Amino acid sequence: MRYGYFDDKRREYVITRPDTPLPWINYLGSEDFFGLISNTAGGYCFYKDARLRRLTRYRYNNAPLDDGGRRLYLRDDGAALEHGNLLFWSPTWQPARRALDHYECRHGLGYSTFSSRLSGIESRLRCFIPQGEQLEIWQLEIKNLRQRPARLSLFAAVEFCLWDALDDATNFQRNYSVGEVEVVDNVIYHKSEYRERRDHFAYLACSAEVAGFDTVRESFLGPYRGWDSPASVIDGSLSNSIATGWQPIGAHHVRLELNPGESAETIFLLGYFENPIDEKFDPPGSQTINKRIVRSIIARYSQPAEAEAAFRRLRHYWDETLDVLQVETPDSHTDRMVNIWNAYQVMTTFNLSRSASYFESGIGRGIGFRDSNQDLLGFVQFDPPRARQRILDLAATQLENGGAYHQYQPLTKRGNNEIGSGFNDDPLWLVLSTAAYLKETGDWTILEEKVPFNNEDELAAPVLEHLQRSIAYTLDRMGPNQLPLIGRADWNDCLNLNCFSEIPGESFQTTENREGGTAESLFIAGLFILASQEMVAIYNKLDLVQEAESCRLAAEAMEKAIWQAGWDGEWFRRAFDSFGNPIGSADCEEGRIFIEPQGICVMAGLGLENGRARQALDSVAEHLATPHGIMLLQPAYSRYYLHLGEISSYPPGYKENAGIFCHTNPWIMIAEARIGRGNRAYDYYLRINPSMRETLSDLHKCEPYVYAQMIAGRDAPSYGEAKNSWLTGTAAWNYVAITQWILGIRPSWDGLEVAPVIPSDWVGFSLTRRFRGVRYEIRVERHGPGNQVQLEVDGEQVPGTLVRLPPSGTARVQVLARIN
Ligand code: BGC
Ligand code: NOJ
Repeated sequence: MRYGYFDDKRREYVITRPDTPLPWINYLGSEDFFGLISNTAGGYCFYKDARLRRLTRYRYNNAPLDDGGRRLYLRDDGAALEHGNLLFWSPTWQPARRALDHYECRHGLGYSTFSSRLSGIESRLRCFIPQGEQLEIWQLEIKNLRQRPARLSLFAAVEFCLWDALDDATNFQRNYSVGEVEVVDNVIYHKSEYRERRDHFAYLACSAEVAGFDTVRESFLGPYRGWDSPASVIDGSLSNSIATGWQPIGAHHVRLELNPGESAETIFLLGYFENPIDEKFDPPGSQTINKRIVRSIIARYSQPAEAEAAFRRLRHYWDETLDVLQVETPDSHTDRMVNIWNAYQVMTTFNLSRSASYFESGIGRGIGFRDSNQDLLGFVQFDPPRARQRILDLAATQLENGGAYHQYQPLTKRGNNEIGSGFNDDPLWLVLSTAAYLKETGDWTILEEKVPFNNEDELAAPVLEHLQRSIAYTLDRMGPNQLPLIGRADWNDCLNLNCFSEIPGESFQTTENREGGTAESLFIAGLFILASQEMVAIYNKLDLVQEAESCRLAAEAMEKAIWQAGWDGEWFRRAFDSFGNPIGSADCEEGRIFIEPQGICVMAGLGLENGRARQALDSVAEHLATPHGIMLLQPAYSRYYLHLGEISSYPPGYKENAGIFCHTNPWIMIAEARIGRGNRAYDYYLRINPSMRETLSDLHKCEPYVYAQMIAGRDAPSYGEAKNSWLTGTAAWNYVAITQWILGIRPSWDGLEVAPVIPSDWVGFSLTRRFRGVRYEIRVERHGPGNQVQLEVDGEQVPGTLVRLPPSGTARVQVLARIN
């Protein structure tokens, strides 16, 4: 069953009923200010950091679901007066949840719209964040479709968060006493802690003359009442309450009188502003917020024409961004994901890493080191300067020994001490992201850029040295089989082989690990080879012949070790535990085969010549593939294994314990493409393609326009149900798999590679790609069943699969690829 449909022309997903299986959300903002917005306008917003600068409250795991956010109410004052009928509703359905005659939510790129109708009153709401600004605009149009005049009350309300979302949800003895507000000129200013060390405040402004306001939550709601039926909405008037302490809110009341057919537009602005520290107060010496600058911003966006212009700029930004790569294939699911939604999700994961979604609370995880480096692989072509900055920020949290902080806080850009380091795969991902940046841009200056270690300026060294230390970090930590030591964990955060945790609630990621020199990771071994290949290419480009050679030799030795200890007979093993026993081996009782090493080792080119790549991938097809995607391992762990850690803490079929952990699926797609099996690669691609799964929405439950981190595996009772949508490495990796390996258009050191491995029944496809300032118009035609490519560049036959960089000044290159 579906709950909506794709409107590809407008690049929107249209939700046609409000009670989706889970809240289906969208993101507003793409720079410093962000909002999460659900299909009923639930969610919250924050400046830069969802933990440290949270503007509005949101209660996770609440019932009813998704009860908090942008709360709007309409009240039919006329009906109440004339007939004593009380009629009020929320034009976005929540929080009042009154049945509407019509409801529609459209999630677009950086905006969401909501239209609804009840009792002849139509409303249209559009929410977005203008480029370069720190505010949400809510443009609300109310139209009277009745034959008679309508007298209405409109209420808009938000519940402020006291800035630090963790403290806000825990430290009540203090924070019930800090709330402060000011109300001036139809604007409610939330200024808790402004008197002391904060120079920032939030506001809820209203473009119309207000009939009243409230800033004390209980005044607005009435004691022991919820947001579904606030007492003051029922009464039709607010009490102009001024909060000190407790729960400051912002609520405005606007009265509307509309003749038949008449409509009125009201604009609400929910914003954040920072004053210069020495000009906080006006007049100086007072405790009143200096509003001189913010007032002009509020005045500007309160005008419909300015809001409209800002919206057009936003549309333009997204059109330009997506124009980097557009494709036309024989399959509409592929087209809409590549051209619109997968690209959009890649941008979102780049912006937020794993910090804030409906499954990430914004207080748990900041910017992940391995996460963001992988996100960059899918992102780099959309905005190379931001990619460059991100690489430098990440590198600055690398430690002197080459290791890395596992996460950093977006606001401070400092490594997160609580999580620490010791995830031995982390540093290698920096090599991959930097190589992707170099191939995309040709900007070799990044390697000379001096970046601190451990955020300490005195320890600054060129990025090239950061990469070298990443490689050395692995080589300095080798185990008994000459394979890399796993440390706390590798890509699989839940394979905690040195943890041995017996204390309930202890974090598997941060708890003290046993001293071990034994537990080794085949995954890191494969990743090391992949990273070394990039390093060798970089060294060669820099004419560092010796460095190139020693890196090549290290990778060669690693490969040898993999064949010696890591090949299980029919697939690659996963790891060696701290007793030296193999994990992911036919000899194991559970967890006999894992997906990760099959993916990474074949991606690194292992077994392409000796047939083992094919064999490993056949084993994946036999043991791990399901119609809902490829499971992480089989058989699932049926109980907790002290020596394996978190992986065995989940019920079978969930998360890392044999769930369909979508992040890993594209590795298999790429691996299949590497061995030339286009049908298989594409089949796997479609199995987890969200648009393909739209008809399964009742089962899948998450949004049909973005990837989710996991889909419950065959062992779970809820087999096929998705979880943890939006912020997942799945976005970037699927984008890479489909565009670079299946469609086969990939940036390389000296040009654009064109090497499609597409399904045999495709006649071809066409694709445009902006690459290093040139627009490539690529047509691929299938003439035979295989993957042999014959290139014609601007009408000239060219050997191989590389379209070399054209002479400078070239604006457009036409490529025809015939495949046989
Ligand atoms: C999750 C992993 C995640 C880890 C670190 C675990 O509970 O299962 O997917 O990587 O936490 O945040
Ligand atoms: C999610 C984490 O964000 C990511 O870093 C990790 O690789 C996967 N889970 C697998 O555990």
